[in-house]
Amino acid sequence: MENNTPSEGREHWSGQLGFVLAAAGSAIGLGNIWKFPYITGENGGGAFVLIYLICILLIGMPVMLCEIILGRHTQKNPVGAFKMLSPKSSVTAHLIGVVLFTCGVALISFETYGWGLIFLAVAILIFKYGWIMPGIMGVFSGFIILSYYSVVGGWTISYFFNAAAGKLVFQNAQQAAGCFDSLKGNPWLCVAFHIAFMAITCLIIYSGVRKGIERWSRILMPALFIILIALILRGITLPNALDGVDFFLRPDFSKIKPKSVLTALGHAFFTLSLGMGAIITYGSYVSKNENLFKASLSIVGLDTLAAIMAGLAIFPVAYAVKINPECGPGLVFQTLPLVFSQIPLGIFWCAVFFILLFIAALTSAMSLLEVVVSFAMDELKWPRHFATFFCGAVITILGIFSAVSISNWENIEWIHSALIKIFNTSQSSFFDFMDNLGANWLLPLGGLFIALFTGWIWGTKKAVDEMRIGSENFADVNFISLLAGLKDDPGHNAKVHVITLASLWGIFVRFIAPLAIFLAFLQIAGWIKN
Ligand code: PHE
Repeated sequence: MENNTPSEGREHWSGQLGFVLAAAGSAIGLGNIWKFPYITGENGGGAFVLIYLICILLIGMPVMLCEIILGRHTQKNPVGAFKMLSPKSSVTAHLIGVVLFTCGVALISFETYGWGLIFLAVAILIFKYGWIMPGIMGVFSGFIILSYYSVVGGWTISYFFNAAAGKLVFQNAQQAAGCFDSLKGNPWLCVAFHIAFMAITCLIIYSGVRKGIERWSRILMPALFIILIALILRGITLPNALDGVDFFLRPDFSKIKPKSVLTALGHAFFTLSLGMGAIITYGSYVSKNENLFKASLSIVGLDTLAAIMAGLAIFPVAYAVKINPECGPGLVFQTLPLVFSQIPLGIFWCAVFFILLFIAALTSAMSLLEVVVSFAMDELKWPRHFATFFCGAVITILGIFSAVSISNWENIEWIHSALIKIFNTSQSSFFDFMDNLGANWLLPLGGLFIALFTGWIWGTKKAVDEMRIGSENFADVNFISLLAGLKDDPGHNAKVHVITLASLWGIFVRFIAPLAIFLAFLQIAGWIKN
């Protein structure tokens, strides 16, 4: 496959399946199995799931396609991609810069210095770099997100060892909670596992695209689905389990909090690995004969399936063993060992589950690090080895702060008081602060820029031209004929059609996705009361 690719020297996936599995490997991770259930629990269940699914459909799908197209067209990292496609000077970019600058000045005059300075800095960067800014922001998000993601990755390693040693056999919910609390209460153990997780991630990224990323994703993704099915079957046959299914799937909008919409939107980006160029980077390793529509549909479909399956595996058990679904980041770590404690060969299955969770985390962490590394290789001309080592080290150090402050600020009070002074933050730990910054702000903002750029600056026309390559007339057939499976029927195909996948996608990218993201931001800023 390598020879029919446009840019010599760049590694490529071995084919459509390789790409879909690697991208699904990036998408399916702790976001699906650890984060989605616990934020669903904290935000009241079914209604939150519904908002999340709407975000996936209206915003996630179109932006996913944008990122793959940008990546394959440019064959570059996010910064390189925006650099290649952005106009020399853009009025829109300057307008955005002026708005941000004004906001910055206003914030400073209200004595909100931290945010004020950030707005000013971003405005100046936009004046200087124009549309390259979203790419730079993506690389920055890579640092932020991986730093705390890896801490949770470390927990999976710790749980795997505990499971294998038979230490995760619990009689009741209190024991399970006690085990999780003792891990959280031992910051240096968390640091050690975080460092171990980062070291493994670096080792794989060091070996490159095909030998590293693709080979692992191919084996491990299918295994993860099989074990999830087994867990669901066991969970829903426990007494009271159906109450859990009810909580997870029946929408009750009275339980929605004001912040839930932004959380759902942020999570849609987080779970699909969107908004920071991870998919641009993976898209840059896709060759020209792949059908990008089908690929993005499969990636989004697999990711959503994994999240729903994780919910179905966890909530019934939580209800059966009386664990509060609102218990936060410990939810998966407390509920599942309890099911395993009740089944034959439980110790074995428990160890298998945590190793798979570790792997799901690893395949996602790899994509986060690959964004940063491919930027350093392409733009700064660093060799892969050095880029991996240097960026990995910076992220590891940053992550230590999250690791020592998972439940409170106790160990880093000085950072807390500084952050209160500068940002007036109300987050309950540094870990939460980073998660909120990365997932709820940087990713949706990145996604907004990516949609606006593709829709209005580079233009949907050029994007659709790229989409057509390798797409077996998917883009241009009447949407209804396509759904009916009649895309190759001449009777349906001979006419000029207006409602095609390409036109629908264009409308979503230009109007619906940006507007929805913008409204979610306004809602959280308190301007729209819900
Ligand atoms: N999608 C990953 C998950 O769900 C996390 C991730 C976010 C990976 C952003 C890459 C980029 O766990």
